[in-house]
Formats: sequence, structure tokens, C-alpha cells
Amino acid sequence: MTDDNKKTEHKKEIDDVSGVETTGHEWDGLKELNNPLPRWWLWVFYACIIWSVWYWVVYPTWPTLSGNTKGTSGYTQFKELKKNQAEIVLRQKAYLDRFEKASFEEILNDKELYAFAMAGGKSFFKDNCATCHGTGAQGAKGYPNLNDDDWLWGGKLEDIKQTITYGIRADHDETRVSQMPAFGKDEMLSIEEVNDVVDYVISLSSADKSTIHEKGAVIFAEQCAMCHGDDARGDSFFGAPNLSDAIWLYGGDKETVIESVHSGRGGLMPSWQGRLDENTIRELSVYIHQLGGGE
Ligand code: HEC
Ligand code: HEC
Repeated sequence: MTDDNKKTEHKKEIDDVSGVETTGHEWDGLKELNNPLPRWWLWVFYACIIWSVWYWVVYPTWPTLSGNTKGTSGYTQFKELKKNQAEIVLRQKAYLDRFEKASFEEILNDKELYAFAMAGGKSFFKDNCATCHGTGAQGAKGYPNLNDDDWLWGGKLEDIKQTITYGIRADHDETRVSQMPAFGKDEMLSIEEVNDVVDYVISLSSADKSTIHEKGAVIFAEQCAMCHGDDARGDSFFGAPNLSDAIWLYGGDKETVIESVHSGRGGLMPSWQGRLDENTIRELSVYIHQLGGGE
């Protein structure tokens, strides 16, 4: 290092072409000129120094043992957040006041309220419902698709609202309770009878009508029709699915249908009363209703 310094001191010279002194640094014959810093650059540099001192004084900057310097402005990001949130609440309030008083019918017929409900519903759905029903509300095995027109518990706005508010087989006094009995496990039907009625049920939604499942049809009329309906089109009073269409909650292959009839079914949808407020539940109801082309 000291050797280097000595070398550079000796080599200081004036460049022939520009007439500027060199710094004495030289690489492969290229010499560095010792030009002064451009004036504009220096001014920007000084301005930055002054600005940073001002920033230290005005804003919270330096960490201290007990936290950080607070700055004279009292600025914090929490305060900013609160301010922004207050602004949003205020903006929403203009709609919420009207939304709160409007009936479902009025909401559907009011462009502004409808758009408000849809936007709110969509975002609340993502936060609360997508975990089970899927981000696109497409559902999964045991979790109903909410985009189709096939409703377990009814697709009217009031039905949907009731489902969301009280849940299904949930921890709430007014929850929807009925469930699919375990006909095999509880020995209400023999293995053979389960097999017969399952063949009959599958034939209802199958294109192949060549085999007539007479025994199964009789069992169905005796054991199943009271919930699923004489025509097997389901009954939203019991949350009993339509068994005559190709839409299945748990699956329409023989093994899965046997499982449904043998062991019973009872999907659990949580109750949202107390966790989401009334307006939120109503926004969600409108959103779901529109998704599924509700009744
Ligand atoms: C823990 C999982 C879970 C979460 C979270 C959940 N659901 Fe459900 N949901 C279910 C299950 C399971 C069913 C089907 C219950 C049954 O078998 O009858 C269901 C049924 C429904 C139904 C009835 C569908 C029909 O065909 O009648 C609606 C409407 C519904 N959910 C809306 C929502 C909304 C809105 C949210 C968010 C606030 C939500 N769900 C959150 C599990 C969930
Ligand atoms: C007490 C009313 C009740 C009776 C009686 C009943 N079911 Fe059900 N069944 C239901 C309910 C409710 C569900 C939906 C369970 C759920 O959502 O988790 C269901 C679901 C099913 C499913 C699943 C459908 C799917 O989409 O995956 C099949 C299959 C079925 N039932 C067949 C039958 C057959 C066959 C019988 C007669 C042997 C019968 N059920 C009798 C109430 C009933």
C-alpha cells in the first residue's frame, strides 16, 4: 500500500492532450485525469446532505434503545393506515346506510347498491369462503359448487342468507340439521338392498335406461323418497340433493354412491353469525345468488 502511494506521487503529471493534471493512476497505458467534480453533481450532493439532516429531524429515523427517534412531525405509518381506513369507512358508509335499509329486491334493482354488494361479496368470499368452496366457488368433493343452479338448501336470496347465517349442521341452535342416514352401517338396509337402491339411483342420471331396477325403485320409494322426493329431484327443506341429475356432491360412481348410502353423509358448513356482520352476510348472499343464477 505504501509502495503504491509513493509510486502515484511520483507519477503526477500533466496530460498532453487535455492539459489536465492526471491522478497518477495508470492502467495499461490509460491515465486517469484529475478533473474537478461537475458543479451540478456537487450541488445535488450537498442538497442530499441537507435534505437528509432535515429528514432526520422531521421523521422517525434513528433506532434508539427504547425504540426510535420520533421526529418533529409525529408521522407513523400506523397513523397513515388509520387515516386511510377511516376514509374508506366514510366512503363505504354512504352506501352502507342505504344498503342496510334496502330489501334484497331493492338491491337487485339498484345499480349502485348491486355493484356495492357484488364487490363486497367477492372480497369477503375470498377471505372467508374460498378455503372450502374454492377461489372460483367451484367447490370440491363434499363442498358444493356455488356457480351452478343446483341448490341443496335453496337458491333464493333468503335461503342463501339463512344458510350463511346459521350454517349447515353447525354449532348454532338454528342451523340446518337433517342429514343423510347411514342405511348400511345402521342396518336399516342389507348389503343387497343398498346395492339394489344404488343401482336404481345411478340409473336415474344415466343415459342407459335398458335395465329396469324394480327392487331398487321400491326401496327408494319406501326409504328415500321422503327426503329426496318421489321423482328423486331432491328437497331443499331437508338439504337432500337432486339424485336425478349428473351433478354430485360426493360423486356418482358406484363405489362413492354405495359409500353415501352405507355410511351416510353430513357435510358441515360453519355458521357465520357473530363472525360476519349482517351487512356482510347480505353482500355475500347477493354475490352467491348471482354466481349461481339463484332462484
Ligand atoms: C369449513 C368449510 C366451509 C367454509 C369455510 C364455508 N363453507 Fe359453505 N359449505 C360447506 C359445506 C361442506 C357445504 C355443504 C353442506 C351440505 O352438505 O349440506 C356448504 C354449503 C354452502 C351453501 C349451500 C349451497 C347449496 O347448494 O344450498 C352456501 C350458500 C354456502 N356454503 C356459502 C358459503 C359462504 C358464503 C361461505 C363464506 C362466508 C362459506 N360457505 C364458507 C363448507 C364450507
Ligand atoms: C332424512 C332424509 C334423507 C333420507 C331418508 C335419505 N337421504 Fe340421501 N341425503 C340426504 C341429505 C341431507 C343428503 C346430503 C348430505 C350432505 O349434504 O352432506 C343426502 C345425500 C345423498 C347422496 C349423495 C348425493 C351426492 O350428490 O353425492 C346419495 C347418493 C343419497 N343421499 C341417496 C339416498 C338413498 C339411496 C336413500 C334411501 C335409501 C336416501 N338417500 C335417503 C337426506 C336423506
